[in-house]
Amino acid sequence: MTSLVKTGIDGLDKALGGGIPEGNIVLLSGGAGTGKSTLCLQHIINGAAKYGEKSLYISTEQTREELLRHGNSFGWEIEKLEKLGKIKIVYFDITAHKDFIKSIDEVVREFKPKRIAIDSLTTLTDALLISDISEQTAFSLAQIAETVTPIPRTEQVIAKTILYQLMKNLKEYGVTTLLTSELYEDTNRLSADGVSEFIADGVILMFFVGIAGTDSRTLRIRKMRYCEHLKSYLPYEIKKGEGIVVNTEESMDVLMK
Ligand SMILES: Nc1ncnc2c1ncn2[C@@H]1O[C@H](COP(=O)(O)OP(=O)(O)O)[C@@H](O)[C@H]1O
Ligand SMILES: [Mg+2]
Repeated sequence: MTSLVKTGIDGLDKALGGGIPEGNIVLLSGGAGTGKSTLCLQHIINGAAKYGEKSLYISTEQTREELLRHGNSFGWEIEKLEKLGKIKIVYFDITAHKDFIKSIDEVVREFKPKRIAIDSLTTLTDALLISDISEQTAFSLAQIAETVTPIPRTEQVIAKTILYQLMKNLKEYGVTTLLTSELYEDTNRLSADGVSEFIADGVILMFFVGIAGTDSRTLRIRKMRYCEHLKSYLPYEIKKGEGIVVNTEESMDVLMK
């Protein structure tokens, strides 16, 4: 049986039937401010603090300082866990043209984490688009991509195929990974790039809805390989001093399309 990796967010673990199946690559998709970064941080902090697992956070959006501040606002002691060697925070400046796939590979092989969060996949893919790759690589990657999903042959194919390469590497590490994807409001898509949801083992969608003057947040486990999970829209809150709190008792299906 696959072992389960607890996020440490009780309601979410319950909805997942115990946790994320070990080694799964899970896409967290949602609009701005839905709590994707908070959930990633929580997963990483809990991994290190509650379960003693080495956890790696790769950020392309918030700098190290911003992430520490984000964590501090919830009372999470990121720096303390870093000093103990349990957490590693890596910030990639995507305006620097670098081989990010190689950089990820190096840090994973050196740090040997049990869990990884990449926040966000969207900016990382954009960065990969502008960093150059050889024609030979692009061609062979495009061939692989065609077998994965029926996407049309456009210049975007190259970006998507690099994305595929990244996900393929992540699968080889066998590390439980969260990837965030930015969605615009009112979209029917499951990811920003339109491809990663096919390759990922899981997709968790996060929504922010304003109903009659009150804010409401719901999430939905849209896909999770190797486990039986709840399929309804689950309300959640982002609470001071706690972070994301998921309520599995109430289903919000009636409020959602
Ligand atoms: N310390 C805090 N206490 C309570 N809520 C917070 C705190 N910090 C952030 N939030 C809430 O979380 C939201 C941002 O979440 P974030 O994880 O950055 O979203 P995303 O990564 O999806 O854009 C903020 O808009 C705010 O509502
Ligand atoms: Mg974010």
